[in-house]
Amino acid sequence: MYHWSAPLDLTDGPAAWHGIACGVTFTVRAPWADTPEPVRTAVAEALGASIVGHVDLHGGMSPGPAAGLWLGDGRQVFVKAVSADVRAHNHAMIRQESAILDVLPASVPAPRRLATVVHGPWIAMATTWADGATAGSWTDASIAAVAGACRAASGHRAPGLLPPVAQRVFDFDGWVRVQAIGAGDDWEAAHAGPAAEVVAGWERWTAGDALVHRDVRLDNTAVGAEGRSAVLLDWAYAAAGARWIDLAQLAADVVATGHVLGPRVAADRAYRLLRTLPPAASRFVVGLAGMWCIRAATVRHAVMPEIATWRRARTVALRPLVTRLIADLRDPPAG
Ligand SMILES: Nc1ncnc2c1ncn2[C@@H]1O[C@H](COP(=O)(O)OP(=O)(O)OP(=O)(O)O)[C@@H](O)[C@H]1O
Ligand SMILES: [Mg+2]
Repeated sequence: MYHWSAPLDLTDGPAAWHGIACGVTFTVRAPWADTPEPVRTAVAEALGASIVGHVDLHGGMSPGPAAGLWLGDGRQVFVKAVSADVRAHNHAMIRQESAILDVLPASVPAPRRLATVVHGPWIAMATTWADGATAGSWTDASIAAVAGACRAASGHRAPGLLPPVAQRVFDFDGWVRVQAIGAGDDWEAAHAGPAAEVVAGWERWTAGDALVHRDVRLDNTAVGAEGRSAVLLDWAYAAAGARWIDLAQLAADVVATGHVLGPRVAADRAYRLLRTLPPAASRFVVGLAGMWCIRAATVRHAVMPEIATWRRARTVALRPLVTRLIADLRDPPAG
């Protein structure tokens, strides 16, 4: 068993830079109380305080536990853990996120890492607690708060440790591959070709030196109770790239996750946000839709079989917006 407080070398472990880009909120996470006792003790020792209470959290896609811990010294902290025997990918992601949190400037709206513990196949990371709730759907207030957090993050130059975002963008050749395997329905038959054209060259037009979170989703945010500020959570995919990427991902998630006022309002808010960004942001949304489309069609998960249904629902939800964005990119609207 060991735990570390010094910055980690992100180059260790071949699995460290691989993985899927998006998650879900339906995975049943293991309860914190089922984490082996030596792991929980090691977390307490690394934090320098006893654990006197906890609450299990249910967001995200990892099968490992996530919990709020109350410590004997009065602090509340966040912890997530996983055994590599359950899912090696998530183990690598916690290791990767530990290293990333250590190099984020203090002015980035992110939790601070407090401890990371490795015990046998287990890894656990504790961070500062992010106050705030995440409802099941976006609201205008939470969109504004998270957009503010995205702008605050991307106002920073990416720390040198982070890779180019092209290494954190997966399956953006989705629409090309949909054409190759055969469109799943009429919409795909009509749109996969134009969509593929729009996304072409993504390695070039996503490049930049801004800090990019790269996995902005409602369940990866904590919006303050007053609805005016937000913290971005779950930094395992952070990268260096174009400044607008997290806002584009936010726009896509507003549609894919949904707005309390329904799908038309979600599409309207996403479109309005994209109109404030360079055209490349719209191309990025089209690329995300292609990523979800090809993954839903071709990737089966043994640990998370429901993920294909979730990806399919996201790409279908994005269709009206994608149709409009492709038309705009071909024939830009005035103003
Ligand atoms: N610092 C924090 N303070 C409070 N709650 C948090 C914090 N970090 C995460 N959470 C909550 O715990 C959930 C799981 O955490 P996180 O997203 O970091 O891990 P994950 O689910 O394993 O990652 P992924 O979503 O990629 O599977 C989040 O959806 C969020 O609701
Ligand atoms: Mg998450």
